[in-house]
Amino acid sequence: MSEDLKREAGKAALSFVKPGMRLGIGTGSTAEAFIRELAPKVKAGLEIIGVPTSERTRALCEELSVPLTTLEETPQLDLTIDGADELDGRLNLIKGGGGALLREKIVAQASKSMIVIADQSKVVEVLGAYPLPIEVNRFGLTATRNAIDALASSLNLSGEITLRETDAGKLFETDGGHLIVDASFGRIPQPQALAVALNTIAGVVENGLFCALADKAIIAAASGVQIMEP
Ligand code: A5P
Repeated sequence: MSEDLKREAGKAALSFVKPGMRLGIGTGSTAEAFIRELAPKVKAGLEIIGVPTSERTRALCEELSVPLTTLEETPQLDLTIDGADELDGRLNLIKGGGGALLREKIVAQASKSMIVIADQSKVVEVLGAYPLPIEVNRFGLTATRNAIDALASSLNLSGEITLRETDAGKLFETDGGHLIVDASFGRIPQPQALAVALNTIAGVVENGLFCALADKAIIAAASGVQIMEP
């Protein structure tokens, strides 16, 4: 997605931000474009308070003087604006490409409303071409991977499940100190069922399927910006 489209999506999201709102602020390059649109409005007097969904987002907000609070201090939010790796027509999402899925889901669930910002290439008929990020505990990693494998087979899903590494070849660690496995299922015809089933595995901390959380998606394309609703 070009920087221009990210900016357009971010700008369009701004029109849903009202004075006094408690905002969940997403993670990823599209969310960052939104933060860069938000910051000058805040500087010009727009009063909002934000809860960042990652340390990366916290750092950018601090750099741009976007006022922040914590979810402990402000446990109910009005609106979360975040990116996605894939979304379908019912606004089921795959998230976690940037590794922030756990905090992103906690923040989204604490919000009255969630708006996804993305470009047209993220919209798919059936989720799953993008590998599904699953946050897992370090303890019992192999047993957890085996359990995910067995669950996938029982749901007629197959594909490689790989442990995420950094570019430097080290294990990728989330803000919560967990690991991520990426499951390349190809197609996930029943995302809600898979999301529920994955979370029955004790070693799974959370999965990147966000079902029935997004109320709107702002989709930027070369032809303009469109709003999708479930
Ligand atoms: C972060 O963990 C993710 O959920 C991001 O929101 C998602 O990967 C979208 O990122 P981009 O906007 O960079 O594509």
